[in-house]
Amino acid sequence: MRIAGGPASNGIAARLARELGADYLEVRHKLFPDGESYVKFEGEVEGTVVIVQSLYPPQDRHLVQLLLMIEAARDLGASEVVAVVPYLAYARQDKRFTPGEALSVKTVLRSIERAGADYFVTVDVHKRESLDQWLSIPHVDVTATEALAEYFKGKLEGPVVLAPDRGALWRAELAAEVLGCEFDYLEKRRDRETGEVKVEPKELEVRGRDVLIVDDVVSTGGTIALAARAALGMGARRVLVACTHPLLAEGALERVLSSGVEEIVATDTIPSSVSRISVAPLLAEALSEMLAQA
Ligand code: R5P
Repeated sequence: MRIAGGPASNGIAARLARELGADYLEVRHKLFPDGESYVKFEGEVEGTVVIVQSLYPPQDRHLVQLLLMIEAARDLGASEVVAVVPYLAYARQDKRFTPGEALSVKTVLRSIERAGADYFVTVDVHKRESLDQWLSIPHVDVTATEALAEYFKGKLEGPVVLAPDRGALWRAELAAEVLGCEFDYLEKRRDRETGEVKVEPKELEVRGRDVLIVDDVVSTGGTIALAARAALGMGARRVLVACTHPLLAEGALERVLSSGVEEIVATDTIPSSVSRISVAPLLAEALSEMLAQA
């Protein structure tokens, strides 16, 4: 097995190769003056080739590079190709919210499969159902929630884990299991036209307790800022945040911190100043299991 690190692997491919005791396959890349991507495998392409490429910004460029690598690996002699995409961009557009919209997650997943991937592995995809719905190849969604919760073990007083919305409740439950505490969710409504998010607090006993908010993505930070304000408004002692994918659009970190959040911790699926937890060990385990079952 060879692990190829794409231009947006963020070091995960090299760590994965070490974890699995596999060969690391270098991928050279450059941009042509007109902005097009060029990729080249710098070694033998044979056997099982695991291509690691996260789809953080610039998402479109990283997606094209991923497709180029998958198809090239097939053409050059890989017997099977595993696409490891730590952050799957476009996953939040998983339905037509208004008529006429593109179903982005479908297009992205189908493109990866059509380029020649035999397996697909990702981390905390926005909705797992999207993978089942749009991929016919074997696929795994690894969650980093427990690893993120471990970071906070022993650091919280009377902890409560909150999901910022009902959809993320299962993440709150997983984190709460690690921390041995209660969990709940806040109700969130996003106006599709203006993008404005409103949080309606539930009857939670957070007064005087440390609240850990868990979510898959922090993009503008608006969701977390609202959730943090709601928790602090209900008397929480401190608010801390664990998220898998720190997209952190411009101004997001400031927005989150100025809402009263004391600390935010994320994984390395996207490079950022708060990416403290590597998903490489989780991906190594998932890959070993998946390939052993094949
Ligand atoms: C939404 O359902 C996601 O789980 C996140 O809560 C959301 O994408 C975060 O976006 P933002 O940081 O822009 O509020």
